[in-house]
Amino acid sequence: MALSAFYAVWGLLLEVAIAFGPVPRITWEHKEVQLIHFNESKVSNYSTLLLSEDKNILYVGAREVIFALNAVNIAEKQHELHWKVTEDKRTKCAVKGKSEQTECRNYVRVLQQLNDTFLYVCGTNAFQPTCDYLNLISFELGGKNEDGKGRCPFDPAQSYTSVMVDEELYSGTSYNFLGSEPIISRHSHQSPLRTEYAIPWLNEPNFVFADVIRADPNSTDGEDDKIYFFFTEVSVEYEFVGKLMIPRIARVCKRDQGGLRTLQKKWTSFLKARLICTIPDKNLIFNVINDVFILKSPTLKEPVIYGVFTPQLNNVGLSAVCAYNLSTVEEVFSKGKYMQSATVEQSHTKWVRYNGEIPNPRPGACINNEARASNYMSSLNLPDKTLQFVKDHPLMDDSVTPMGDRPRLVKRDVKYTQIVVDRVRALNGTIYDVMFIGTDQGALHKAISYENGMHIIEETQLFPNFEPVQTLLLSSKTGRRYLFAGSNSGVVQSPVAFCDKYTTCVDCVLARDPYCAWKPLEASCIDIFKEGEMERNWIQNIGGDASSCSAFLTWMAKEGNYLKTGNKLHCNRIRKTLSTACT
Ligand SMILES: *[C@@H]1O[C@H](CO)[C@@H](O)[C@H](O)[C@H]1NC(C)=O
Ligand SMILES: *[C@@H]1O[C@H](CO)[C@@H](O)[C@H](O)[C@H]1NC(C)=O
Repeated sequence: MALSAFYAVWGLLLEVAIAFGPVPRITWEHKEVQLIHFNESKVSNYSTLLLSEDKNILYVGAREVIFALNAVNIAEKQHELHWKVTEDKRTKCAVKGKSEQTECRNYVRVLQQLNDTFLYVCGTNAFQPTCDYLNLISFELGGKNEDGKGRCPFDPAQSYTSVMVDEELYSGTSYNFLGSEPIISRHSHQSPLRTEYAIPWLNEPNFVFADVIRADPNSTDGEDDKIYFFFTEVSVEYEFVGKLMIPRIARVCKRDQGGLRTLQKKWTSFLKARLICTIPDKNLIFNVINDVFILKSPTLKEPVIYGVFTPQLNNVGLSAVCAYNLSTVEEVFSKGKYMQSATVEQSHTKWVRYNGEIPNPRPGACINNEARASNYMSSLNLPDKTLQFVKDHPLMDDSVTPMGDRPRLVKRDVKYTQIVVDRVRALNGTIYDVMFIGTDQGALHKAISYENGMHIIEETQLFPNFEPVQTLLLSSKTGRRYLFAGSNSGVVQSPVAFCDKYTTCVDCVLARDPYCAWKPLEASCIDIFKEGEMERNWIQNIGGDASSCSAFLTWMAKEGNYLKTGNKLHCNRIRKTLSTACT
């Protein structure tokens, strides 16, 4: 892409004063809604959260402490474990020029469920990342003090992400003290693997998320489970003055064993592609990815990847949510073209589409039945040609385009930092993906997008001091849905809806909240997922048509004529439904 195109885009960005995106229909101030808080004095940086849905426990990794909280009420602390840096380590860290009071501490960065009895935990430990096993029965560390290099950053300010898959830890972080060597690795006693340390593989990445997507159990092609990583990195493929950021999706295969000679102990299945999140007709490019949530629901044909993005130069404060279906992603990796670097002039390299012959088996592909049929039983058997190719061509030329070719949500004057998505069935059976999006000002937006537009149902001020939402989790157990948000100063638990805040039928219906409906006989706005059974006379309309509220009058007249009975109690209840006065 030419330089001038990007200039044009940014010129536009600075100038546009278009009223972008919907305004939250209602804003709840911090004190207006019932939220549950957890924080302890002298403890800060509650940045790592892990939810155990079976045990109903929320684990929280803060600075030098790990907590276990009751996930139904996080104010109830069940355990706490102090995990401090030794004096000696702190002094040594300070000698290397780091701040003894802040940087030379232990920031918990990895908190993963290993099995029923153990969590695998890692902390920065005064720039000497260390991992250990946390026994959930005694709530004590095993004292293994494993070297956490490659699993946890040295520097608490650096990005990190990890996911535990079948008792093996996959992480994206940096590998050295300076933070200059990025790495995506698998920690496993059998076959540890890592990325090449080379610019085409990872170029100053900022990791935001990782997750596994299991192979379809009904498929017959013997495909492998895949681990996806999301990050923003400095572009190699576009020419630009300064650093142009690019949002990426990368993936590796779970059964990858590395190569035998070429790519020994390195991924043979590492491929990455650009994620596109743009508004083409307005020339807006969202090229920094801040967080990802992968929606995996039994009612979905395939997982959907939701990402929150901001532009690199964000003077006007724009954010967007883009959604990608998995088949589009897989298509790019399994059928797309690769990119190739070419040297032009002396030292200048340029990345162009590779149009030459592609070795067989396809470079970067997982070992599946087809490969096994050709006697490639593991990545260790792959021919050198395939391995050398993927080593030199980890970047795809094709990009991953969002569903519907545009963002699900675009919002002005806000920076979105975190996202989780809940899939809910409204009263009329329509399914909505409800997006909960955290901001850098401690707020949460709850939004839906539908065919004709987008709607922000509400904005809730989660943190009173307007600090960024750093982590966001959703507990979607039936009948018990909560959000958990972590920040520097504490953790907040919020219900997914505040239906009872709406006191009239019209208010309740106009909220257009799939969780809420008006229950006419009780004259209250209820959370439909908290009720035992759905009833036919409940009123909900996500399109925002509140005429059913008055239609209820007619129905009521037929049913028993409460209005004419002069029964004050009934009249007052019904009045709320009808928004009329009692006579
Ligand atoms: C830890 O929290 C403090 C505020 O309590 C903040 O200033 C600091 O940047 C945080 N450090 C990290 C590494 O997040
Ligand atoms: C996935 O998204 C693409 C692009 O929007 C679309 O063409 C395709 O039909 C979608 N596939 C499914 C299964 O939804």
